[in-house]
Amino acid sequence: MGEINFFPDDLEIKDQKIILRLDLNVPIKDKVIKDDTRITLCLPFINRLIEKKAKIIIISHLGRPKGINVPDLSLIPIYKYLKDALKTNVYFFRGTFDGETKEKFSHLKGGEVILIENIRFFKEETEDGQDFSKKLAELGDIYINDAFSCSHREQASVHGITKFVKKSYAGPLLKKEITAINLVIKNKKEPVTCIIGGSKISTKINVITNLLKKVNNMVIVGAMANNFFVYKNLKVGKSLVEKDTKEIIKTIYSKAEQNNCKILIPEDCIVGVSFEGKGINKSLGDILDDEIILDIGENTIKNICEVVERSNTVLWNGPAGYFENENFAKGTFSIAENISKNTIEKSLISVLGGGDTLAAINRNKNKLSFSHLSTAGGAFLEYLEGKDLPGISVLK
Ligand code: 3PG
Repeated sequence: MGEINFFPDDLEIKDQKIILRLDLNVPIKDKVIKDDTRITLCLPFINRLIEKKAKIIIISHLGRPKGINVPDLSLIPIYKYLKDALKTNVYFFRGTFDGETKEKFSHLKGGEVILIENIRFFKEETEDGQDFSKKLAELGDIYINDAFSCSHREQASVHGITKFVKKSYAGPLLKKEITAINLVIKNKKEPVTCIIGGSKISTKINVITNLLKKVNNMVIVGAMANNFFVYKNLKVGKSLVEKDTKEIIKTIYSKAEQNNCKILIPEDCIVGVSFEGKGINKSLGDILDDEIILDIGENTIKNICEVVERSNTVLWNGPAGYFENENFAKGTFSIAENISKNTIEKSLISVLGGGDTLAAINRNKNKLSFSHLSTAGGAFLEYLEGKDLPGISVLK
């Protein structure tokens, strides 16, 4: 398969209708945007298209409304945000798509923007419907996917639309995401360390097995490490564990050996008797029946920092503990601070991704610096698994 068709910056697009697929799927509560990171990242490119006097038609989804109009998942708060943030006329379209929709967009002048209501209010979107994709494609001359985080979805505005539109491109944010992840799995500067955390090993098993072939060190933290303790016949008290993971872990160890990848799991942890209280540092092996592992311990933090120090590239996905309670956030914060320090002082290439990892970093009071912070969740993991993402394959 060929190369991804990236949007050429010098393309003449004055008065051309551009369908721009963005990921404006941001947390909204009571019509208030709780975190605008994804929107702010999109603004420079929208502004560039405005400057070039393109007619911009923005498509995004919000949540998973399953093909029906769910008022709480309306893009109206995002429309208001864009109206304030962009120095041009911004319109909102909440109609249906048929032969006349194009006419309804004909008032749009070069440099103006239309935001379409949550595209997942139409069931044909998630079904990747041909007719629907065609109707969307008819709205514009050029299609740009700048939503890497949606590109693992085989859905009309990400996938089907490209069959019917005249030209399709990947936008700059998508390019940035792919370039950054490729710094870990393709054009990498070794040693490469991968830190994988979070709660469920079953959701990340494919990522881990694929990365074992590509990285030098694999560090396992978070509740998923509990399964490794069980595998080693260590008691984990009331900690979160998944059923039947022994075979998975056996495979991980044998793949690691075949590929000369070192696996590091915690040697101590912070335990508590509930998620709310405080914890104490304990060695594995000393955990009581009523205790829960809620963070990595001091020695483990030291071990991880040493591995990071020795690395030239680090990929991190998934927190090390229950960071929502600050008593159990030290492991996650120490990893973040150490990666940031090495990024600044030693030009470490650091790529971080996943909703929980970003949420944890946002809670840290220090100003942290990384080579790349991916706002993608599922797409980030699937790309790391080595999968061809449907929304990206169609741009090749
Ligand atoms: C995300 O938040 O990861 C993207 O917006 C994709 O959302 P989805 O998992 O509902 O497809």
